[in-house]
Parts: sequence; C-alpha cells; structure tokens
Amino acid sequence: MKKHMSIAIDGPSGVGKSTLAKNLSDRLGYAYVDTGAMFRTFAVLFLDKGIAPEDEEGISRALEDAEISIRYEDGVQRMILNGSDVTDRLRTEEVSHMASVSSQYSCVRERLLSVQRELAESNDVIMDGRDIGTVVLPDAGLKVFLTADSGVRALRRYNEYKEKGILDGRSVEDVEKEILDRDYRDSHRDIAPLKAAEDAFVLDTSRLNADEVTERIIERLNESKTC
Ligand code: DC
Repeated sequence: MKKHMSIAIDGPSGVGKSTLAKNLSDRLGYAYVDTGAMFRTFAVLFLDKGIAPEDEEGISRALEDAEISIRYEDGVQRMILNGSDVTDRLRTEEVSHMASVSSQYSCVRERLLSVQRELAESNDVIMDGRDIGTVVLPDAGLKVFLTADSGVRALRRYNEYKEKGILDGRSVEDVEKEILDRDYRDSHRDIAPLKAAEDAFVLDTSRLNADEVTERIIERLNESKTC
C-alpha cells in the first residue's frame, strides 16, 4: 500500500496555522485537515445538549451516539455532526471555549485521534492542530511549530472577527485575554498538550506575512527532500 505524505502544523491560537495550511494545500495539492474544527464540532454537540464544560461524564455519554464526519466542498472542509452541516457554527467564542475545555478529556481526544489518523492513512495531508507532530502523526514528513507574540496574534484574530462581523464589541485586549486563557489551558492539560515536537521546525511568524511564512516552509520542505 502506498504510504501517504503528511505535514504537521502545530502552534497556539491565532498564529497563522490555517492560513499556512491552506496555502500549502493549494501549492502541493494535499488535503487540508483542520483538527480544531473537529474539536469545535463536538463542542457544538455539548452546547446543544446543555452539558457544562466541566461535566466529563456527561460529555462522555454525549459521545456515545454522536457521528462526526468531514466533507470537502470545493476544497473547503465541512463538518457534519449527526447528519447536519455545523461548519457555520464553529467560530463563536462560546464554541472556542467549550472546545478548549472539552479537548482535555481522553474520551474526546480518543474519538478524534482515530478519525485523524484514518484521514492521513488514505490521503496526502496537511494537518493542523496542537498535538499533530507529537501525538497524531509522529512520523509526519515535515513538522512545523509556529509561534508569534500574543499581541500580534490578538490583532490578527481581532481583524478576522471584525471582517466576519463576529467581534461582539470586544477590544483587542479582550481578544488577547481569550487567546492567552486558551493557550494556557491547551498547553497545561495532561493529555497531548500543545508543545513543539523535538524534531519540529519552529518558526516565529510575528514579523512575517502569510506569503513569507509559506515560502519559508516550502524552502524547508525542499531542503528536507534533498537531505
Ligand atoms: O485550532 P482551533 O482554535 O480551532 O482549536 C480549538 C480548540 O481545540 C483548541 O483550543 C484546543 C483544541 N484542539 C486540540 O486540543 N488539539 C488539536 N489538535 C486541535 C485543537
């Protein structure tokens, strides 16, 4: 069986993982798998069922008859939960918070780990998240870990929310606090915390635009092929 190529991209919130992953997907023709969207999809389920983020048992029970799947429409990943497309509901702060808290539970992570690995076994993928290089795809052909100052990340997120009309009166400082809270939780949990794999290429994107980041990674990919 042909072994598929995979590129792992990890890093904190608002660092530019999805922009890089989309650009690489366009350039290389690999499928882009946004694993954060999977955690967000389950977060929608827990919110719809009125389960508190701290209720691990309730969350585990809710997963028993939950079906999650991915569909690609014009190259865009759509998330399907129990037969309904929930993609347009994934980007609210409420969902971000629930996804960050519920992603610490093993029942949630295990369900998604198998889905993520199956996708990488049957496609060439660029997968982004928090634990792709460390846990999901430890044999990825290239591992990238992006970092950036929290002020820069907050401004990027603020502008994105403003553009999408989902700012809800928040200031840049409010957005920075939200992402710092989430980063703290994501990097201090017991299972699969956010961290760079030992063999990851770490790139600080604070002073780079999206095209420059993409070029650096393409260079790195070409170097790794000639080694
Ligand atoms: O990348 P994102 O902001 O859409 O991810 C939402 C949350 O999901 C994030 O706060 C932590 C969790 N997550 C995770 O634990 N592991 C991943 N591979 C991806 C996301």
